[in-house]
Amino acid sequence: MIGRCVLLLVMLAGPAAAEDLHALWDGQCGACHGHAGDFARSSLEIRNDQLMGKASGRPVAEYLVVHNGGYSAPQIAALRAMLTAQVQTTPEFQAHCDGCHDSAAQVLRDWVLVRDGHLFGRQSGQDLEQFLIRHGGADADSRGRIIQSLTRVADELNHR
Ligand code: HEC
Ligand code: HEC
Repeated sequence: MIGRCVLLLVMLAGPAAAEDLHALWDGQCGACHGHAGDFARSSLEIRNDQLMGKASGRPVAEYLVVHNGGYSAPQIAALRAMLTAQVQTTPEFQAHCDGCHDSAAQVLRDWVLVRDGHLFGRQSGQDLEQFLIRHGGADADSRGRIIQSLTRVADELNHR
């Protein structure tokens, strides 16, 4: 009975809304697979609207049910969403930012504030779209894509 109550509470808590996905990746996956974005782009693909492993030819969601003893359903759903977004993102961050910054997640944690869904430099207080005109050397198109993916990552990090 107690077990069932705990299970119900866990289910009510939903898909771990407050979980930092990038910390989950770094803690559970990164040691073997490196950066999530690099792994997604090199090892995964979208086929028939499904996120698939290139080597195994299997859907990632299925694979993770048994991989390393299995991950929880909310973790799998969250990881699949993150990896799917990464497969579909061009590696703009790598091209323009990761010579100096470790990862998008790190930039957000160390350098960015989010207010009303908009990103601002922590030091300058400047709107990131403005800041990047003079920082990082990306053209307008790339800047747009970088802001878009940083906004998505901020969401994944539950970064406020
Ligand atoms: C202890 C090392 C290790 C950890 C930790 C690990 N993996 Fe893996 N993973 C592997 C290896 C090695 C493979 C290659 C296939 C195999 O031998 O199982 C693999 C394969 C995969 C595949 C299949 C790729 C394909 O081509 O089908 C996916 C997807 C995957 N891992 C995702 C994850 C995710 C997400 C996590 C964290 C939640 C994770 N892995 C944690 C070692 C690891
Ligand atoms: C040549 C190295 C270099 C490159 C390339 C670079 N950065 Fe930076 N970035 C830095 C340094 C150093 C700082 C901190 C000190 C400073 O403000 O100059 C910084 C600060 C920042 C800040 C904090 C701004 C603030 O107001 O606090 C953000 C956000 C940022 N970088 C994002 C990016 C993004 C996104 C890219 C890619 C488009 C990028 N950086 C490319 C070196 C770099």
